[in-house]
Amino acid sequence: MTDAPEIPVRVRPEVAALPPYKQGRQAGADAFKLSSNENPFDPLPGVLERVRAATALNRYPDATAHRLRQRLAERFGVDVDGVHIGAGSVSILAQLVLATSGPGDEVIYAWRSFEAYPWLAVVAGATAVEVPLAAGARHDLDAMAAAITERTRAVIVCSPNNPTGPVVTQAEFDDFVAKVPGDVLVVLDEAYAEFVTDPDAVGGERVLRSGWPNVVVLRTFSKAYGLAALRVGYAIGHPRVLDAARTTAIPLSVTAHGEEAALASLDAEEELLERVQVIAGRRDRLAQGLRDAGWNVPEAQGNFVWLPAGDETAAFAVAFEEAGLIVRPFAGDGIRISVGEEESVEKVLGIAASVVKNLPEGHAGVRASVER
Ligand SMILES: Cc1ncc(COP(=O)(O)O)c(C=O)c1O
Repeated sequence: MTDAPEIPVRVRPEVAALPPYKQGRQAGADAFKLSSNENPFDPLPGVLERVRAATALNRYPDATAHRLRQRLAERFGVDVDGVHIGAGSVSILAQLVLATSGPGDEVIYAWRSFEAYPWLAVVAGATAVEVPLAAGARHDLDAMAAAITERTRAVIVCSPNNPTGPVVTQAEFDDFVAKVPGDVLVVLDEAYAEFVTDPDAVGGERVLRSGWPNVVVLRTFSKAYGLAALRVGYAIGHPRVLDAARTTAIPLSVTAHGEEAALASLDAEEELLERVQVIAGRRDRLAQGLRDAGWNVPEAQGNFVWLPAGDETAAFAVAFEEAGLIVRPFAGDGIRISVGEEESVEKVLGIAASVVKNLPEGHAGVRASVER
């Protein structure tokens, strides 16, 4: 029971039961915001200039973001209809789930993973099937394949997995897709692809070359390209599958400014990807420092690290917050810490080292072999 007032109109019960999406906490001016996997670098001046120049605020944007689709189609070697742009990749996920899955249908994903997945399934009226992560906080693709039934309409694979960090390998992904019936959609959610340094990781480009018609690759300009505020994500896949997503999309939700910023970012890609390398290096230092302090940090391939704090999650998140570090706690499970400004790294390591001492030996958050 809650003491919230009753909803005055008839709302679908599954929607009424679902709390609205909760964003990572905002930070005060003197705190580091490490709660939303954002890019800590300011936008490039050249990108800002291009956005400022896109001034026709009284006109609707190009509904299909054709220029950006054309540009991405060239890059991925696909037809322009094999590219779809959305107001963030999460909106494309929602479109794909709506297009494929309704009441009685099942959507499979690993858990824990991106917190929007359960919400997308419920909003579509479908049933969410959560397959627990395997050891090392990795996708258990065998178990996910085994969970497929006649009712399965979509499977989401998140690599690197938000919030735990490990990738799915190319070999694992290829094996998995071979087991999925050809009429079941497989979404490869690669929101953090640009941060990946593991050469064995699955890669959208290679996946697309395999030509599986039921696989859609999802990417975003929010993370590596630092455009989270402008909301631009994209999907590459079979044009008819993407048509279904386009049908369920809210028209005109990709803004002209978002499209222009994405194009400008592709023009400035070399500079932006240098920043991505800096963030990946910072991530590796952070993960290693945490492991040295005794934390059992899974492979970190995104722009974040995962502390499996278990029951201590809420208390530890308060400790970080009191030190001016806004992190993302997942109650009873763990804490995700985004790789932020350079100055935040030592601070995170300091607090993490002091709190890990409160975890008993044998706790999942603690590495067995570490002397503390
Ligand atoms: C795994 C994953 N997919 C998709 C998204 C959505 O990103 P956006 O809608 O900003 O493109 C996020 C954002 O945090 C994410 O972590």
